[in-house]
Amino acid sequence: MAMNRREVLWHAGWIVAGAALPGAWGIAVAGAGGPLKVGVIGAGRIGGTLGELWVKAGHEVLLSSRHPEELKPLAERLGPRARAGTPREAAAFGEVVLVSVPYGALPQIGRDYAAELRGKSVLDTCNPFPGRDGPMAEEARRKGAGRASAEYLPGVRLVRAFNTIPYSALRSEAHRAGARVAVPLAADDAEALAVAERLVREAGFEPVVVGPLARARDFDAGTAVFGRALTAAELRRRLGLP
Ligand SMILES: NC(=O)c1ccc[n+]([C@@H]2O[C@H](COP(=O)([O-])OP(=O)(O)OC[C@H]3O[C@@H](n4cnc5c(N)ncnc54)[C@H](OP(=O)(O)O)[C@@H]3O)[C@@H](O)[C@H]2O)c1
Repeated sequence: MAMNRREVLWHAGWIVAGAALPGAWGIAVAGAGGPLKVGVIGAGRIGGTLGELWVKAGHEVLLSSRHPEELKPLAERLGPRARAGTPREAAAFGEVVLVSVPYGALPQIGRDYAAELRGKSVLDTCNPFPGRDGPMAEEARRKGAGRASAEYLPGVRLVRAFNTIPYSALRSEAHRAGARVAVPLAADDAEALAVAERLVREAGFEPVVVGPLARARDFDAGTAVFGRALTAAELRRRLGLP
């Protein structure tokens, strides 16, 4: 089909934009694209629920446990797009990896799976609680979880995501009618952020980009937006976002 002059210019504009902004162009292609391979490290209340939502959205998900045989019944129930494996297998499998473990496990995960995770988009739901995670959690609270997690998971494209929403709401509010529940996001990497936004939407929630990783402290444990299932408008108002 022949293109008229306006269409030729429009397409040419996108090609130039794509060449100038390889990250943004990659996002546009990925965003329009097919299923993602998602590895889930920590398939508990948050990781297991998100894994299930992403399988239902059409993605391929490897749910992992240090006792993978315990996850086999869940993977079988979810069907052929789901499988069970070890944390290392999840790190290797995913083009995107969700890390959803007690905060105290992050240093070990960052060390042991560094090679598998290098350069990948990693969504981090983990919240530091000194009572559960020990003194490292106090340090992480002081620094802000975004900065602290980036130190524990070096070499990845980190996004803070799904850390504010209680797991019960993750189950009950996904894809709800009307204004969806918002998920605040913070990241330094535009491509990882775009993948996270897509996965938030496809899990049935509304992404709200708060800013770079350092801004993740605005929605850390203990803030006014933490532990609540807020709409995007409510979240933006409480965080003073436009
Ligand atoms: N619960 C909530 O409402 C909520 C909300 C937002 C954020 N969060 C945060 O998200 C994280 C996960 O919370 P959750 O409630 O889903 O916890 P959870 O139900 O206890 O699940 C955590 C999972 O982490 C895995 N795990 C623990 N240590 C590990 C290690 N060293 N290597 C690999 N996997 C390990 C465990 O799997 P195996 O024992 O099978 O290996 C477990 O299934 C926490 O940091 C939490 O603070 C929780």
